[in-house]
Amino acid sequence: MHGRQLCVCVCAAWFLAANGEDVTCLSEYYMGREGFRSVPLSPLVYTPIAHRPDWYWKKIFQMRGIDPESVKSGYTEAWLAFLFVEAQEAMTVCSIEGGRYWDCILDVRKVYDLAQGSARSTFAGRLAAVFGITLAAPDPLPGHLRLSLCAPARCTESQVVQEIFPLAVDMLMGERPQQMLGNASFRDVVVAHEVAGWHDFDIDFAIVGVNRCGTTSLRKNMELHPDVVIKGDEEETILSYELANRLLPLKAQVEEYNAQVQERITAKFKATGHRPHIVGIGNPLLFQSALVRQKLALMPQLKLVLAVCEPVGRMEKIFMMEKYCHDDLPAAQKRLVAWPYRDGSEVCFPSTSALLTERHGQLKLFWDQRIATAQHLAALAELFPSRLFVLHQTELRDTPSNIFNELAAFVGLRPFPEKIVFRRYNSVGGHRTDLCFNASLVRSLQRLLEREYVMQESILQAFRGIRIAARSTRCDLVDKVDTTYCPNMAC
Ligand SMILES: *[C@@H]1O[C@H](CO)[C@@H](O)[C@H](O)[C@H]1NC(C)=O
Ligand SMILES: *[C@@H]1O[C@H](CO)[C@@H](O)[C@H](O)[C@H]1NC(C)=O
Repeated sequence: MHGRQLCVCVCAAWFLAANGEDVTCLSEYYMGREGFRSVPLSPLVYTPIAHRPDWYWKKIFQMRGIDPESVKSGYTEAWLAFLFVEAQEAMTVCSIEGGRYWDCILDVRKVYDLAQGSARSTFAGRLAAVFGITLAAPDPLPGHLRLSLCAPARCTESQVVQEIFPLAVDMLMGERPQQMLGNASFRDVVVAHEVAGWHDFDIDFAIVGVNRCGTTSLRKNMELHPDVVIKGDEEETILSYELANRLLPLKAQVEEYNAQVQERITAKFKATGHRPHIVGIGNPLLFQSALVRQKLALMPQLKLVLAVCEPVGRMEKIFMMEKYCHDDLPAAQKRLVAWPYRDGSEVCFPSTSALLTERHGQLKLFWDQRIATAQHLAALAELFPSRLFVLHQTELRDTPSNIFNELAAFVGLRPFPEKIVFRRYNSVGGHRTDLCFNASLVRSLQRLLEREYVMQESILQAFRGIRIAARSTRCDLVDKVDTTYCPNMAC
């Protein structure tokens, strides 16, 4: 067996040397082939359970000894944690083997089109065997096949595509894969990207929510600290949007993100003469994505900041933005009391009493989202028992310097400079809808949101050791405070 390997190695080396290319990538792969091929070919992209046929999951669960009944929903934290940890481990094992981990995509249709005569049917047959399906002639082929592979660290992207990939797809393309491609090359049918780890992102703290609870004030005020740089002026979407379904980020994406961080650091240094060294991001919706929570969990150095607020007031504000009828919608949008993407033809409601009457009707989805908040808070608390800072919005309003200095200490910063004034953003005071004119409606809503009050009290107690009179709503004070209005600007 060794003899055969040596021959293949030498022959390949001779062949490549004749082409004037670096031979060490391929010869290193041959020498460590068993190790490189032992690295699990973990999926690198999350697919909801519903997107794959039942037989696929049955097989996977069987192989992994998981009870299929326990992961029915597809979004259970356990199933996600399993997928993320497995991808991360595959990458780690690869680096222990002296390799780098690559996400490769084979254009299956193109290979099929390029293959001639019997090579074509052989390819289709192997494809069917790999997927465990029967492919009859008119059945559409899968368009692309993702394959993760571990290649020696010295291999370049082009060597991975043209030298390593052909060896790794023998189960699909046989011992002489080039024959299937006619005079095309693997470059024409394969794309390869190196992957990185979530911990490679340059982030020290993340403001993860809750939306409409003062997250903009948190982000803008944290940036006033001389040692802090916030990655963007807007909400950071790299984890929730650009990399939404990835189980591991691509190395190029990580590098681009980190370069942007360095630019921000340089800009702040130029503006202030002091180089910040703690990097923060903010996106108030991060807390509610189970996928994002798993990514954050794989950044062990990262600290999380969460602001909570009185649930009825928050519900009223979201209702005002998304569902309340405004006499002049464009004007309301300009004042940012109506969601800028609203379309005048959508259903709107002239009174907040619709929150009760339409709870199981037209506002069912709206309610489902509000009700889910308590579950998301519970999931966060469970996943981050020792690196989550929870504060209540009232603390931002009543004792801003205390809370910001507490936060600074938590993130590993010295206290804020004395002279700093902490402002509030996106705040709309006074009567914003008809809610506060109807005390019985307020009480009914409070009853329906009871779980969230309880959850807030429990995590504030557990994480900060504080008690907040969470049950008093903004309506208790609405006539005593000035009507303020300062979306987008500071109050
Ligand atoms: C292969 O090369 C020949 C001659 O250069 C060309 O005519 C033909 O189109 C090529 N076939 C493919 C599949 O690219
Ligand atoms: C207050 O809200 C309740 C519940 O939706 C509704 O039935 C009642 O008509 C409202 N009262 C006023 C004065 O709007």
